[in-house]
Amino acid sequence: MVAFQGGAALITQEPELAHRYSSANAPRSVFGFVIDAIRVISRAIHLQLPMNSVSSTDTHTDRFCVPDSLGFFGPYGGMFVPETLMTALFEFEQVFREAMADPAFVAEYEDLLRHFVGRPSPLYYAERLSEHCGGARIYLKREDLLHTGAHKITNAIGQVLLAKRMGKTRVIAETGAGQHGVATAAAAARFGLECVIYMGRVDMRRQALNVFRMNLFGATMRPVDSGQQTLKDAVNEAMRDWVTNVRDTHYVVGSALGTHPFPLVVREFQRVIGKELRAQFAEQFGRLPDEMAACVGGGSNSIGFFHEFLDESSVRMVGVEAGGRGITEGQHAARFAGGRMGVFQGCMSYVLQDGDGQINLTHSVSAGLDYASVGPEHAYYRDRGRIEYGYATDDEVIEALKLLCRLEGILPALESTHAVAYALKRAPQMRPDQVLCVNISGRGDKDVHTVMESLGVKPEDLVECS
Ligand SMILES: Cc1ncc(COP(=O)(O)O)c(C=O)c1O
Repeated sequence: MVAFQGGAALITQEPELAHRYSSANAPRSVFGFVIDAIRVISRAIHLQLPMNSVSSTDTHTDRFCVPDSLGFFGPYGGMFVPETLMTALFEFEQVFREAMADPAFVAEYEDLLRHFVGRPSPLYYAERLSEHCGGARIYLKREDLLHTGAHKITNAIGQVLLAKRMGKTRVIAETGAGQHGVATAAAAARFGLECVIYMGRVDMRRQALNVFRMNLFGATMRPVDSGQQTLKDAVNEAMRDWVTNVRDTHYVVGSALGTHPFPLVVREFQRVIGKELRAQFAEQFGRLPDEMAACVGGGSNSIGFFHEFLDESSVRMVGVEAGGRGITEGQHAARFAGGRMGVFQGCMSYVLQDGDGQINLTHSVSAGLDYASVGPEHAYYRDRGRIEYGYATDDEVIEALKLLCRLEGILPALESTHAVAYALKRAPQMRPDQVLCVNISGRGDKDVHTVMESLGVKPEDLVECS
């Protein structure tokens, strides 16, 4: 296995990371061998372990110790995929590690982040929102200002570069909110690759603006009519396509979830969010934030935002999931509030499922959080108590969105607004000398129709008012 090397400035700033990433260097214990045995057995029979079998005695304290060489974050993660994909996944991991150690690749990627994506994204003081809440000062990391309107482009451009490096001529992706689809379509257009996007019919309706943007970028849309016609169904169809066309096609996974090595690859591309934030805090305040909050769908914006600070015990971190209409089966997508350990779409994680292991229906006002499982790294840090998780309901989210629009002139994506809703409750409990930083993962233009519907506003009402 090729370890990361120090030349990869953006991804591996610290030279000792080559050592850190080499799982051969990880300390082994009897406990480690037992866990490995459980992994092998669970892989073989797709075992669904009860939550109380999760061990909290894992001794890793270093954020670069996970995932291990098999793609596991403690008991979570792994590669639960059809045999036909294994070669492609091993090749992808190999190419990824080599690319990250290649200064030419890293330089091209950093150049694209700066000139195509628009990084670094600003850190913004939400002064009127902070005054309204009382308590902590609230800062917003403005990923909504990036090209195509969300953090997703940072990962999409990285994976499209890797697809090119592997000699692939076609990329596919699935998308819920449409932001990852738009980002992949834009990146594919930039490099002249064929692009096919799978999207549930329900999501296509609620994110029609993004569907049209993908069309403009030359992507072929494949509507998905199976199941709930949302993200998990689109993932199934994308997997089917990939199994059939794996020779010339790369599947650009949009979040830090699914089979290894995607949780690792996506985290590494999104880590730039936290790196920028750390530098911005150092420059502007000479200190770290006291608390950070981000929404959690699959978990990419949040793990990218948090990762740089995981070793900083003074920084509290909170991930906010979709509470939907409340924590009743089928009415939400808060995996840590109602889920338990299971295998779903390529990896072991917390999954919303019934007593027989059937995947529950989910609901959220935001398409991008409306998913039954969560990235395995989040499950790992949740069990260790390093990242805390809560949820915001649809109603709280709509109220928070209205408030941010009115007080700051910022229209956040419904996904990101979950973290804003948390901040509205949390900031008043904090001191005025403390700083709460919220990741605004995307902008809300795509959600205007959903918000109008939630508020009972019809287009003809707007004409009457003006
Ligand atoms: C703007 C925005 N934020 C957050 C998410 C959730 O994804 P993740 O948890 O991978 O950041 C999405 C997903 O589509 C999104 O569009």
